[in-house]
Amino acid sequence: MESSLEELTAENLTPHVIKVSTENVKNERLIELVTGLIQHLHDYVKEVQLKPTEWEAAVQYLTQVGHDSTPDRQEMILLSDVLGVSALVDTINSAQAKASSATESSVLGPFHSEDTHTLANGQSIGSPGVIGELMLIHGTVRSVSGAPIEGVDVDVWETNGNGLYDMQDPNRDGPNCRGIFQTDSQGQYYLVGVKSVNYDIPTDGSVGLLLNMLKRNITRPAHVVCTAIISRSSQLLTPRSIFS
Ligand SMILES: [Fe+2]
Repeated sequence: MESSLEELTAENLTPHVIKVSTENVKNERLIELVTGLIQHLHDYVKEVQLKPTEWEAAVQYLTQVGHDSTPDRQEMILLSDVLGVSALVDTINSAQAKASSATESSVLGPFHSEDTHTLANGQSIGSPGVIGELMLIHGTVRSVSGAPIEGVDVDVWETNGNGLYDMQDPNRDGPNCRGIFQTDSQGQYYLVGVKSVNYDIPTDGSVGLLLNMLKRNITRPAHVVCTAIISRSSQLLTPRSIFS
């Protein structure tokens, strides 16, 4: 017999919610995901003895993260990144688990953009007036057995010399400091980029608020991201971790 609302207690609430949430679902994976989500959420609330004011603050915070997110600003992904969730998902699904000689996989992060352009090897990813010192970026895409792979799209992006990605520039009029290059017959790609600089994670949004509250380091070491596009889920050639 189904429990009535009056009969629900802290002890039987969790199995009740899981039951009503999954009893009409056929998809086994959906059942697994929903069951785990409810179970862990309830366990967390009970473990920390969450107070109503804390619940309300959490709701308001997540609402604000949503409001801060736009097509050009992925605040939700940034939150996932700084909490280490993105890295954890990537790690447990990494191709490296299957081939130890493969380049370590990593997350795309909040500053990857589909709004990029395809360039020829040797071209610059910086628009005219790009800030900073120019540098040559090159690499080779190889199979796990070491053979060069021709025709692989390599998605490259970095900040301008001022430490800002193009999507953070209010005067942006197109892709800047990003581009896609195809490997040649030797598996090589090469381009002109900007000497990378350290930059700070944006602190004017909800994630910045959290980082400040936790007194966490907000500076990321200088890096360029070069991602071999194998499929919609890509593999990084240059290891990086926003969770650092
Ligand atoms: Fe970055």
